[in-house]
Amino acid sequence: MKRILLTGITGQLGQQLPGILEPLAEVTGVDRQSLDLAQPEEIRKVISEVKPDLIINAAAYTAVDKAETETELAKAINGIAPTIIAEEAQQLGASLIHISTDYVFDGRKNTPYTEEDTPNPINAYGQSKLLGEEGVRQKCERHIILRTAWVYGAYGKGNFVKTMLRLGAEREELRVVVDQVGGPTWTGDLAQGIAMIAANLPNPRLGESINLDQDAKLNVSTGTYHFTNSGAISWYDFAIAIFEEAQLLGFPVKVKHVVPITTTEYPTPAKRPAYSVLSGKKISVALGTHPPHWRQGLRQMLKQLYSQQ
Ligand SMILES: NC(=O)c1ccc[n+]([C@@H]2O[C@H](COP(=O)([O-])OP(=O)(O)OC[C@H]3O[C@@H](n4cnc5c(N)ncnc54)[C@H](OP(=O)(O)O)[C@@H]3O)[C@@H](O)[C@H]2O)c1
Repeated sequence: MKRILLTGITGQLGQQLPGILEPLAEVTGVDRQSLDLAQPEEIRKVISEVKPDLIINAAAYTAVDKAETETELAKAINGIAPTIIAEEAQQLGASLIHISTDYVFDGRKNTPYTEEDTPNPINAYGQSKLLGEEGVRQKCERHIILRTAWVYGAYGKGNFVKTMLRLGAEREELRVVVDQVGGPTWTGDLAQGIAMIAANLPNPRLGESINLDQDAKLNVSTGTYHFTNSGAISWYDFAIAIFEEAQLLGFPVKVKHVVPITTTEYPTPAKRPAYSVLSGKKISVALGTHPPHWRQGLRQMLKQLYSQQ
């Protein structure tokens, strides 16, 4: 049985992953208490104790607005920690799947960002994540950098879908930003994608023990990939879809008017890219399948959330 070290197990993605990974390998999940990523020595200690064949770094400093003032902390967790993880993985001959973000791009394009596009983050969070990407690329030969976007799931502290459900049950009118377009991504589909990548990494240490029930072994080679649910949408249109789907499932929905507003009408400490759609072509070729459409992911998440009530 091969060993996976998974960071960030209290997060949205981190809570979704063990159930999918456990049939594939022995998973050692670590939370902030057992591994504080702001402490480089702890990172080295835990990795040398666990001796994983694969590390999945699902932990991150994700408070995009707070990162504007807690810049050093964001840099430590998103930039320095992944670099140390990468060094340790390299020393062990382990593989590393590191999760990154659409916010490494400035949003000036109006066609989907490919893996070849040059990052140019416009906020401190994006800068810290880009630093982490660079460290991972430099230090660990067998790495996968998986950029995702607009992540939401039934688990974890909060996200746009949960906020819309809460506000939509309380208010008749909501104002939602219409001039930011991206690719909403359900953690269930993202976790499935990560498991498929894990099952197909070209690392002899991982051998056949990590193996999904597939006819043919795929070859997911080292490098950077984009993974979001398929399709692109604004926060405003996504909010409307959330209320449509939530109503069908029986969630309480009081909201009658969703009003489109511009980013300038909703100022935030951190700037956000106006357009951060990630092209899924490369990952679709590598995995032999397209990530499901965002509406399908949304329905799945809402069903999961509804069943937990
Ligand atoms: N959320 C999004 O919209 C989004 C978009 C694009 C990319 N991503 C990327 O996707 C990945 C997963 O995001 P997510 O939404 O699942 O994040 P999340 O729900 O905010 O979870 C972050 C995880 O990181 C842990 N963490 C934070 N600081 C830590 C520290 N100092 N030491 C150890 N653990 C620490 C958190 O622990 P605590 O519970 O103790 O805080 C939590 O388990 C991240 O790499 C993120 O950058 C997210």
